[in-house]
Amino acid sequence: MYKVDGKRVVVTGAGSGLGRALALALASRGCRIGVADINEETARETLEMVRQKGGDGEAYRLDVSRPQEVEAMAEHFFRSWGGVDVLVNNAGVVSVGFVGDIPLEDWEWVFGVNFWGMLYGCHYFVPRMKAQGGGYVVNVASAAGLLTLLEMAPYNATKAAVIALSETLRSELAPSKIGVTVVCPMFFNTNLLQDMRYTDEFEREFSQTTFQYARMTADQVAAAVVKAVEKRRLYVVPQFSGKLFWSLKRMRPGMYHGTLAFFNHGDIGHRILLWMARRGLIQ
Ligand SMILES: NC(=O)c1ccc[n+]([C@@H]2O[C@H](COP(=O)([O-])OP(=O)(O)OC[C@H]3O[C@@H](n4cnc5c(N)ncnc54)[C@H](O)[C@@H]3O)[C@@H](O)[C@H]2O)c1
Repeated sequence: MYKVDGKRVVVTGAGSGLGRALALALASRGCRIGVADINEETARETLEMVRQKGGDGEAYRLDVSRPQEVEAMAEHFFRSWGGVDVLVNNAGVVSVGFVGDIPLEDWEWVFGVNFWGMLYGCHYFVPRMKAQGGGYVVNVASAAGLLTLLEMAPYNATKAAVIALSETLRSELAPSKIGVTVVCPMFFNTNLLQDMRYTDEFEREFSQTTFQYARMTADQVAAAVVKAVEKRRLYVVPQFSGKLFWSLKRMRPGMYHGTLAFFNHGDIGHRILLWMARRGLIQ
């Protein structure tokens, strides 16, 4: 068991969506929250909400894709708080389309935030946690990293890398009393699509439909994450569909990828996917 109550926690991407929901869920457990985001205004809004819940913390502006800024943040919180117990690497972005159509700048943008941003967090926080005698790292990946969803190659690749990084850290950090959890949700409604870059109209429509009909909320995903951390679980796959598709892929990889190829064949596959999304079968 890991007792989250009263911990000193830094959450990246905490100005919106899951990061905000996690900040609030942890604040209601008496945690002090470092509300980190590239958007200072929304970070301040989250801090205000944290205070309304009776918690406290600090808003911090940074771009996680810049290593110097992540190092400065680690330095800041470890010095001013005397330590950080939990790092939640949550900030993420998405770009969709086909390989070859997606501009290389978009690949670099997604890798910069989703992979390098999380790696910088681990690189600068983990040695300090080791020095203080323990801690906890939560990396927010996605079911996309387990399932290689359609037309999301940069997103799939970064999230798969974060899952592999987290699995490695899990065994590497156990002797240092540092826990690791990797979060792999299917779709839930947040502001993620506002900054989404896309080169394919179907995929844009599909993403928006899955968000619109998503059954689970960010608050429910956050509650599942807190529970998993308390139980020191490595993987959190909150939605049933994520668990189901992940099992099918492991049991029958050929059939799984054949089905995805069918959905990529154009009109009929796309129409079935949209039909499923509207019935909440994909989230
Ligand atoms: N919403 C979903 O369906 C879904 C599913 C699986 C995984 N996720 C993952 O959950 C995490 C949170 O996403 P969300 O859905 O809450 O989206 P969101 O857009 O609502 O929140 C993301 C936050 O990250 C911040 N951010 C973006 N780039 C940043 C940077 N360079 N530095 C610092 N902050 C930055 C944004 O300002 C925003 O506040 C992401 O890692 C995302 O990939 C989301």
